[in-house]
This record gives sequence, structure tokens and C-alpha cells, in this order.
Amino acid sequence: MRSHYCGHVHRDHIGSTVEVTGWVHRRRDHGGVIFVDLRDREGLLQVVFDPDQPAIFADAERLRSEFVIAVRGRVRERPEGTLNPNLPTGEIEVYAESLEILNRAETPPFMLDDEDVAEETRLRYRYVDLRRPVMQARLKLRHRITRALRGYLDEHGFIDLETPILTKPTPEGARDYIVPSRTHPGRFFALPQSPQIFKQLFMMSGFDRYYQIARCFRDEDLRADRQPEFTQLDVETSFLDEDGIMALMEGMIRQTFDEVLGVTLPDPFPRMSYDEAMARYGSDKPDLRIPLELVEVSDLVADCDFKVFAGPAKDPRGRVAALRLPGGGELSRKEIDDYTAFVGRYGAKGLAYIKVNDAAAGRDGLQSPIIKFLSDDAVSGIMARTGAGDGDLVFFGADRAGIVNDAIGALRVRLGHDRGLCAEGWAPLWVVDFPMFEWDDRKQGWIFLHPPFTAPQVDAPSALEANPGEIRSRAYDMVLNGTELGGGSVRIHRQDMQAAVFGLLGIGDDEAREKFGFLLDALKYGCPPHGGIAFGLDRLVMLMAGCDSIRDVIAFPKTQTASCPLTSAPAEVATEQLREAGIRLRRTEQSAAG
Ligand code: AMO
Ligand code: AMP
Repeated sequence: MRSHYCGHVHRDHIGSTVEVTGWVHRRRDHGGVIFVDLRDREGLLQVVFDPDQPAIFADAERLRSEFVIAVRGRVRERPEGTLNPNLPTGEIEVYAESLEILNRAETPPFMLDDEDVAEETRLRYRYVDLRRPVMQARLKLRHRITRALRGYLDEHGFIDLETPILTKPTPEGARDYIVPSRTHPGRFFALPQSPQIFKQLFMMSGFDRYYQIARCFRDEDLRADRQPEFTQLDVETSFLDEDGIMALMEGMIRQTFDEVLGVTLPDPFPRMSYDEAMARYGSDKPDLRIPLELVEVSDLVADCDFKVFAGPAKDPRGRVAALRLPGGGELSRKEIDDYTAFVGRYGAKGLAYIKVNDAAAGRDGLQSPIIKFLSDDAVSGIMARTGAGDGDLVFFGADRAGIVNDAIGALRVRLGHDRGLCAEGWAPLWVVDFPMFEWDDRKQGWIFLHPPFTAPQVDAPSALEANPGEIRSRAYDMVLNGTELGGGSVRIHRQDMQAAVFGLLGIGDDEAREKFGFLLDALKYGCPPHGGIAFGLDRLVMLMAGCDSIRDVIAFPKTQTASCPLTSAPAEVATEQLREAGIRLRRTEQSAAG
């Protein structure tokens, strides 16, 4: 049926006959002549139907948007003045000599050119949405990215291996999706939150280097960069330490950016400790394109009369941080109120500030609701440490350190974008030296920042137990432009250390055996030192495609409420099917009423 893709016909074909197929993108009637922009995955091609070809002209008059047709015709140069420089095929057109309507189409639910279609509608008619050239380009980019990643991993001796989807809960910290078992009534499979345990077992089996483009399932609150079902590029290797793994993996990202976008990323990627990232950016995934930084001022305000500051400044778990916004003096009252409401979403109880009108004039040159509470030393200390000058504004956050970091860290990013301070380009970063454990007040015990197989930076279990709060883990996160792209670690490969970690987390022997017995057993039968990482493939594609949401680079994503408007999943299940699975539904209020 086809000799060429529409988008591939060009000047060199002038004079020859081509056969093309595709969808009617647009039909225009001009003085008796009908022009059709014919679309296939490679692009648009202008087809001309001339009344001098009466046999096909009548059919051409019946064409509507999204009809599927086959056309044979001669390629010719477009007449002077009708060239379209915006189109790769803009110099030529096809003079139709035959037309076959392969299928008619009803008027589509939205026009492909319409930019303002609600996402719900786009997702309901995703097959139409995916015809849009921009969506075609995104999914093709995704293909090129996975091909580049696979190519690199292949060159470096990684083997693509599969792991089960019906499995036991995997410890990544989200809620599981569960699947009832018909053959074992009352029992459930869990869908994997990641292939973590299986990839470690592959190392114990001696495969040495594994990778998989793996689907993962997590029932968690959704955001622009989170889906309940998402894809990881999952990697594990044996006999490499963290430096070896990080070098290999950033090499992969560098090569992929070079191959796919022609972009050269830094070599090596910069590294920053978790503590430094939190101190300077209030985030463990700082966007280094934004030049603003948090500055510690707790010591300067610990003795001031302002309880809002003095309290957290004296509390070891509190923090008072300043953020200088160059040129922020021009912010209006309303803008400051909006930013105060914004940090409120992160739990901040206010947003104190100092406007610098005239630094040389001392206190008199400053404008602030809190200045009256601060000593001269505190004020000059803040000015010196933040480097604030005329026309600047300094924001303050004072609270539990976690709240200050979340609130002022988010404010930093927001200001960076609002004020046009965000640099162009790519800012990759490794964040390392994460704390192994965090104290949890509610649980009154240690909790883990990473899955409990992450190795600590100490060799002996006794060293770990002596001072859990101080111990750093051998984990690393790759951050790109403020998005956590991937995370991984060197794993525990000795049973005594694994037992010590479970112990500190309050996971008893029985629980450990019940949950991870097979892994603990495997550690006994010859486990090599190993480690790995998983990248969020959707996030990588989102960033490389310049999109704001991973939904834009996933063919059939779920909505914010984890449903699929296309298939109407999740759906009810027939009583018979439930009975087979040994499940009886609890009466919901609605069904009780009805
Ligand atoms: P982690 O839980 O950090 O690590 O996940 C790795 C990467 O997967 C991406 N990601 C997601 N992307 C979209 N939607 C989600 N809901 C979602 N959750 C995570 C992120 C993240 O950096 N087994 C470990 C990896 C390892 O240690 O090797 C793991 O899953 O980009
Ligand atoms: P108030 O004492 O509530 O009138 O607050 C005085 C100033 O301090 C206002 O600008 C508040 O926005 C700000 N403020 C109040 N609580 C905090 C806080 N926890 N952190 C930073 N600024 C605050």
C-alpha cells in the first residue's frame, strides 16, 4: 500500500510516483482544488486533488478529519508562494492520481491542533491524543532513550533479566497493590514496588551485572512526578564499590544525553553530602540551576526577644534559616503575603523578612516587621552572612528543622522560577552520605531512610549499634535539575550486619524471617559484595522531553486519583469472581442504603 512515509517525501522525489497512507489531518478547499494534509507517524504531507481527475475528486470531497486513506500520486514542486518553511515536506506536494478511503472516522472528540483539551478528555481518548505529533515525538524520544540506555548497559556487560510481578511485598515504603489468590483463598500476592530483592538474588546467583526496564507498583499519593505504576531502569552489579557504581551510572546518563540530545553533561558529576544539601538548599534533591541558598542564622538570633526565632534557635532539632533574594526589595505586600501562604502549605507558621532599602544607613535603612526584636549585632550578623545589599530582601524560616527545610527549600525553588533566576541547561548531582537511620518521635524508634538492605559506612555491627544516629549509609541519589532521578546503594552482604540493622529497626527475628527469610537464607550461601541503583525512567524521559509531568511521557497513565479514564479501571468485579477469590466485600454506606 505504501512506498514512503508521508514525512519522508522530499525534493529528491520530485517527478516520481509515490504511494502514501495515513490520516486526514486537515482538508482545505481552494477554488475548486482540495488540499489534504495527510499525516502519519513521520509527519505531514500535502496532497492535492484536482477536479481534472473527476474519478477521485468526488471521493476527495467526502474526506473528513481523521479518515484513513491511501493515495497514489506524483510528487511535484509547490507553486511559488505556497512553500511552507515550517514543514520538512513544505517544498513539495503530491498530485493525487488515485484515492482509496480505507476507513471513515466520526468527528473526533477534539481537534488534534487544539491545545486546551482537558487532561481527563485526553486520557479518555488517549488513542486520539497519541496521534498528536507532540505525543508521537515524546514516545519516540522515550524509545530512543531506552535504546541508548540498553546500548550502554549491553556494552558494559549487563544482562537483561526479568523478575516476577506476582510476588511478596517489597520494602520500598509505599503501600502495596495486592492481588488475591484463587488457589490459596485468603492469601494475596503483592505487586512489586521494585525488583530489589530479586536483583540482589541475581547477584547471589552469580550473574554479576543485571539490568531490567521494570514496571513497579506503589499505592501512594500521586504528584506530577509520581504514578502508581511506573518504570524503573533497574541495575545491580557485584564486586564494585560505590565509586565504581556511580562512575558507571553517570557514564550511562552522559552517553544517553550525548546520543539522544547532543548534550554534554559534566564529567564527573558533582557530589554533595546529604547534610550540605539540607543546610544550603533545604532539600536532598537540590536544583543547582537556582543560585539562591539558605543561610544558617540560629546562633545570631538565639538570644533575641523574638520567641518565634529564639525558640527554634536554641532547640537542637530547630533551625532558623535566612534566604536572600537579590532584588527582592521590589516585592509588594501582596506578593509577600502570597509567599507566606505558600510556605504555610509546608507547615511554616509565618515568613518573616527584612527589606534592605539602604544598607549604609544601618537599622534605619531596613524595613521589617521583626527588626525591633533583633539586636544590632544580630542585624549586622545577618546582613554580613547573607551578603544582603541595597534592593535585596531576606526571608526567614524558624521552626523544627524539617519544616524550615521543606518550607524555605520550596520557597527557594519557587522564587527561582518566579523571578527568572533559574539558569538554562542541566545540573546533575550525586547526593551521598545519607544518614543510615532517622529518629522517629511517633514510633519512638529508628526508622530507615532507604530500604533496609543498604550497607552502613561501618564494617562492624557493634559500631553501628553504638551510635546509630551518627552512622552514614553507602547510599547515593542522582539528582537532575531538582528531580530525584535515581537512587541506590551498596548492599549489606553479610548476615550479621543484616541482623544488626533489622534489630535497630525493631524488626524482630520472627518478622524478619517471615518477610525476608529467603533473602537471609541466601546471604548464608555465598553472597558477593554488591550494589546497584534504580532510575525513574519516566522522570528521565520527562526531563529530557522538557515536560512538567510524567503523565506526558507515559502512553497510558493513570489520573491523579489513580484511575484510567480510557478503560475505566479500577472496575467492579462480578460476585462470582470474588467468590472464587474467597473475597466478600464490606458493605459500603452507599450499598447499605440502597
Ligand atoms: P527508589 O524507591 O528510590 O529506589 O526508586 C528509584 C527511582 O524510581 C523513581 N520513582 C518513581 N517514579 C514515578 N512514580 C513513582 N511513584 C516513583 N517512585 C520512585 C524515582 C526514584 O529515584 N530498589 C530501590 C533502588 C535501589 O536501591 O537499587 C528503589 O526502588 O526516580
Ligand atoms: P507575628 O509575631 O506573628 O506578628 O509575626 C511577625 C513576623 O514573623 C511576621 O512577618 C510573620 O510572618 C513572621 N513569622 C511568624 N512565625 C514565623 C516562623 N515560624 N518563621 C518565620 N517567620 C515567622
